[in-house]
Amino acid sequence: MKFTLVAVFAGLCALALATPVYEEHQGEYHQHKVGGKDYLRQYKNVLTLFKYVHQPTHLQEHVTLAKEYDIQHNLAGYTNPQAVKEFLHYYRQGMLPRDEVFSVFYEYHLKQAVALFKLFYYAKDFETFYKTAVWARYYVNQGMFLYSFSVALIHRPDTYQMVLPPIYEIYPYYFFNTEVIQKAQHYKQMWTGTGVQQHQYTIYANYSGYYLNLHPEQSMGYFTEDVGVNAYYYYYNLYRPFWMNSEEYGLNTYQRGEEFYYFYQQFLARYYLERLSNNFGEIGTYDYEDAFETGYYPSMCYPNGLHFPQRHNWAQFLMNYYNYGQSFSMKGQYPYSYTKVVEYERRIRDAIDAGFVFTEEGEKIKLFEPQGFNTLGNIIESNPHSVNTRFYGYLQVFARHLLGYSFQPLHQYKVAPSALEHFETSLRDPAFWQLYKRIILYFQKYKYQLPHYTYDELAFPGVKVENIQVDRLVTYFEQYDVDITNAVYMNHNEFEHNNFEVRARQYRLNHKPFTYKINVVSEKPTQAVVRVFIGPKYDEYGRFIQIDENRMNFVEFDKFKYELKAGQNVIERNSRQIYYASDRTTYKQLYQLTMTGMTQGEEFMAHGSEFYYAFPNRFLLPKGKHGGQTYQFYVIVSQYKPFTMYGQQQQRQVYQKRTQGYQNEYYKYPVVGLGVQYLDAYPLGYPFDKPIDEYTFYVPNAHFQDVVIYHKETDEINTSAYHDNTYEHGYGSQYQQGYKHQQGYETKYDQEYETKQHGYQYNQEY
Ligand SMILES: *[C@@H]1O[C@H](CO)[C@@H](O)[C@H](O)[C@H]1NC(C)=O
Ligand SMILES: *[C@@H]1O[C@H](CO)[C@@H](O)[C@H](O)[C@H]1NC(C)=O
Repeated sequence: MKFTLVAVFAGLCALALATPVYEEHQGEYHQHKVGGKDYLRQYKNVLTLFKYVHQPTHLQEHVTLAKEYDIQHNLAGYTNPQAVKEFLHYYRQGMLPRDEVFSVFYEYHLKQAVALFKLFYYAKDFETFYKTAVWARYYVNQGMFLYSFSVALIHRPDTYQMVLPPIYEIYPYYFFNTEVIQKAQHYKQMWTGTGVQQHQYTIYANYSGYYLNLHPEQSMGYFTEDVGVNAYYYYYNLYRPFWMNSEEYGLNTYQRGEEFYYFYQQFLARYYLERLSNNFGEIGTYDYEDAFETGYYPSMCYPNGLHFPQRHNWAQFLMNYYNYGQSFSMKGQYPYSYTKVVEYERRIRDAIDAGFVFTEEGEKIKLFEPQGFNTLGNIIESNPHSVNTRFYGYLQVFARHLLGYSFQPLHQYKVAPSALEHFETSLRDPAFWQLYKRIILYFQKYKYQLPHYTYDELAFPGVKVENIQVDRLVTYFEQYDVDITNAVYMNHNEFEHNNFEVRARQYRLNHKPFTYKINVVSEKPTQAVVRVFIGPKYDEYGRFIQIDENRMNFVEFDKFKYELKAGQNVIERNSRQIYYASDRTTYKQLYQLTMTGMTQGEEFMAHGSEFYYAFPNRFLLPKGKHGGQTYQFYVIVSQYKPFTMYGQQQQRQVYQKRTQGYQNEYYKYPVVGLGVQYLDAYPLGYPFDKPIDEYTFYVPNAHFQDVVIYHKETDEINTSAYHDNTYEHGYGSQYQQGYKHQQGYETKYDQEYETKQHGYQYNQEY
């Protein structure tokens, strides 16, 4: 039974966990059952709060609850009375009104959102949490509610397994251009009946370059506007909000500042690979004093009808240019963004050159010692662990405001944030990539002071990687539907009947499943850890990129422990085993899942790759070219050194409580970069994390392998499947999978399961 469900709900793993899990929550232990009908009912209730989140609720039970619930009278329901008082203080003074635009990058908005988050987080039990949420859904600004509620769900010990519905369904305004939203609303107006018949409309959505041809780089819209890639960035920022204190909320992190660096470094490397596929080279650079070449026109609208601000080509950032005609008074810090950004950056550069930073008390902290890089990362992220935010400031906040070319608000509640000031939309603006490249280069300035690895440090005596065999790699575009019904207005009657649906259909990149085999010879049985990267070989002009330069461009996409036996080892991995996430489960499927679970009495818990944030598996490979584009795989097999979590005691405890009961070790370690995890004690990005000396870098336990990625037109993809993988490489794993499919494996998930269970069955057929 369980397994049929897995098959039906694509992308979800169902895991029976009937054992009670004890969670520590602010010193108290609550027992609650993960799985089970109560849990599913709770989850179903949570889901209903996301539905038409931009509209007042249509559920009578929500209205009644919201009107009856009084936080003041339920102070005992929260474990942190101070947090409740703080929230009530804001609430009575007046908070961001409903229907106004919310952005976490505006000081007032952030303060209120954090206060609301704390209210949710410190609710003693699920009942109180839920009532608080229903209340807030009714009275608080929609954007703020959505943000704080989502962050709370992820971080509360009793709700963190609840898979969040995809943000692009919940808030389509931030994922689809105005012409799509407009059309959806148009269909809704044309639609007349509320009868029983189901009406489904499909809109063919395009990426931005379709109407407005503004810059050649818009041709990369399939990447920068992909719903999955943008949702990934959004979820990353829910899991690790820059304002969140790691210890207080048991954040699943280990070296927070360094993880911040690694996330952006990997994201940029991945973007660079995509640029190469499109014949664009390096991500551009800029000076704050000079005109900024790439403009940005968002083609997006806020739910209140306001357009996102745009930045023209060759925009100027000097204070007088971008503030011209606007208010300079003390309406917040934003008019001074230029000065702030320039100064913060200078102080950071100075700190790296000097080798130390100052705390607010004037105490010196050394940067070139084991924790130094992490300290630097905390400063640049401006998280609560930064040693001195007064001096090193909030670089990201002001740089986003400046580059996004937002307007200076006259009032803190009448804001028109730029695309850069929302996580959902940041990646669309070319300035995002340029800004973070600049930030990554500051980190590199630090890294270049470090010694390179010696041969002995990199080598694994007695182990040799002989070669890597990779299937033919093929990318293609396929259509993908997103339910955007939340973008239209429903009256009560229509809501009840629930028979209008509108979908956006868009081409999205994908790749054919592939297998790769690493042939390793070992002198003796030993525990190893294998890291696999993909990187470029040539730049956009076909010039070979030197390895010390190129180390920045390698994307880590697989890492696993392996027991090497003496002699020949064939390590086979397939593209589905990799950490990257499959498409998020839709709201409808999640809802169905709770209903099915409840009616059939199954006790199971839903979590899958959505459980944490991970880069979409669809984008595992950069888009290929018709005639092929050359990249390289790099594999290094190293001695296994166990990962030991250290850090604050409390953080570790909360963390351990959370993870007990999980069979799967993947849930135990922090996720870093694009979705891989700490498995061992090597630094993030090893061995590309330090400058490379070519004389010591090439060790027998590592191997570079050229791979060619092809891109096929959509109509070519099915006809060529047989040919591509069967004859050319001779081992036909694609063909066998196809064959098994016909033999009655119902879905690819079954098939995947089959493959995992039987391990390396293909090997035997060699
Ligand atoms: C997207 O492009 C297709 C094909 O050119 C066109 O038919 C469709 O109307 C466009 N979509 C929108 C929403 O404009
Ligand atoms: C390829 O074949 C599969 C299975 O028959 C089908 O679902 C899919 O839509 C086809 N893809 C294209 C691009 O035609």
